[in-house]
Amino acid sequence: MKYQHIGASDIYASRVALGLMRIADKTHEEAVEIIKTAYDAGINFFDHADIYGGGKSELVFAKAMKELNIPREKYYLQSKVGIKPGIAYDFSMEHILKSVDEILERLETDYLDSLLLHRADMLWEPEEIAKAFKILKENGKVRKFGVSNMHQFQLSYLKSKLDFPIIANQLQFSIMHADMVSTGTFVNTNLKNDGFNAIGIIDYLREHNITIQAWSPFQYGRYEGVFIDNDKFPELNEKLDEIAKKYRTTKTTLSVAWILRHPANIQTIIGTMNPKRIKECAQATEIILSREEWYEIYIAAGNRIL
Ligand SMILES: NC(=O)c1ccc[n+]([C@@H]2O[C@H](COP(=O)([O-])OP(=O)(O)OC[C@H]3O[C@@H](n4cnc5c(N)ncnc54)[C@H](OP(=O)(O)O)[C@@H]3O)[C@@H](O)[C@H]2O)c1
Repeated sequence: MKYQHIGASDIYASRVALGLMRIADKTHEEAVEIIKTAYDAGINFFDHADIYGGGKSELVFAKAMKELNIPREKYYLQSKVGIKPGIAYDFSMEHILKSVDEILERLETDYLDSLLLHRADMLWEPEEIAKAFKILKENGKVRKFGVSNMHQFQLSYLKSKLDFPIIANQLQFSIMHADMVSTGTFVNTNLKNDGFNAIGIIDYLREHNITIQAWSPFQYGRYEGVFIDNDKFPELNEKLDEIAKKYRTTKTTLSVAWILRHPANIQTIIGTMNPKRIKECAQATEIILSREEWYEIYIAAGNRIL
C-alpha cells in the first residue's frame, strides 16, 4: 500500500480507501472480516456518510471496530453531511452541527478526521457553513474539512469564507466515468462533449492542492452496474484482460491502478464488501501503468480522443 497526504493536511492516508456505503446489511462477523481485511492490507482511511444505510453503516462499522480494538489514532475517519432524505439538501449551521453530533455518537468516537459536504445545497449560505466549520474545529469534533460533488466555482466561493483549507473533493471518477479528464481535450472544438459538467474541475483541484477522492471506481453510469466482466463492454474487458496478464494481476486491481496512475494523486474510495476484492484493490498501488497502457484502457472503454 502507498500513502498520500490529503490536501494540505497532516492526514497521511492510504491511496486506496474503503467506503462503507454498502456495509449496513452485513452481519457483525462479516463486517469484522471486511474491515480487518482492509486494515491488514494497509487501508487506514474509512469513508462514511450520515445517510449510508440511514445511519446503520456507521453503527455496523463502529461495532466491528470495537471488536477489532484498533487504536483510534491508527486510522482516519471521514463522514459527510448535507443530504436530507425527504427534503433534499441542508447546509444550514444547525443541520451540520446536529448531524456531526449524531455521526460521532454512531461511530462511537470523539472526532472525525475529515467532514465533507455531501452534495451542493441549492439554498446554501457559505458564511453559515463557515461558522459551523469554525465551531466544529474549535470544539475538536472535526479536524479537517472538504466537499463532495462540487464545481470549482462553488469551491472558490466557499474557500473565500474559510480561514483554513478545503482538503478534498469527492467526485465520481473511473475508466467508465472519465469526464473530468476527457473535457480538457475538447477545449475550443465544435465537437459535442457530454462532459460539460466537469470542465476545469481537475485542474482547479490540482492547482489548489485539494485531493480528488474518486467514488464508485467500478460503476458505469449512475449506479447502473459494474463494468468488469460485463458483456456490454467486451472491448474494455479484453483490454483489461490483456494488460492484467502482463502484470500478473486482475482486472479489479488494474481498474484502480488506472485511477491512481493519473498525476493528480487521486485517492480511490472502493466500495466492495468482498474481502478477496478488497485485497485486490489494495494491491493497485504496486502497479504503475505506462502512458500507452493508460490511454489504451481509456480508449477501450469507449472514451474519445481527437
Ligand atoms: N460522495 C458521493 O456522492 C458518493 C457517492 C457514491 C459512493 N461514495 C463513496 O464511494 C464508495 C464506493 O462506491 P461504490 O460502492 O459505488 O463503488 P464501487 O467500488 O465502484 O462498487 C462496489 C460495488 O461493485 C460490486 N462489484 C462487483 N464486481 C466487482 C469487482 N470486480 N470489483 C469491485 N467491485 C465489484 C461490489 O460488490 P461486492 O461487494 O460483492 O464486491 C459492490 O457492490 C462508497 O462506499 C462511498 O463511501 C460517495
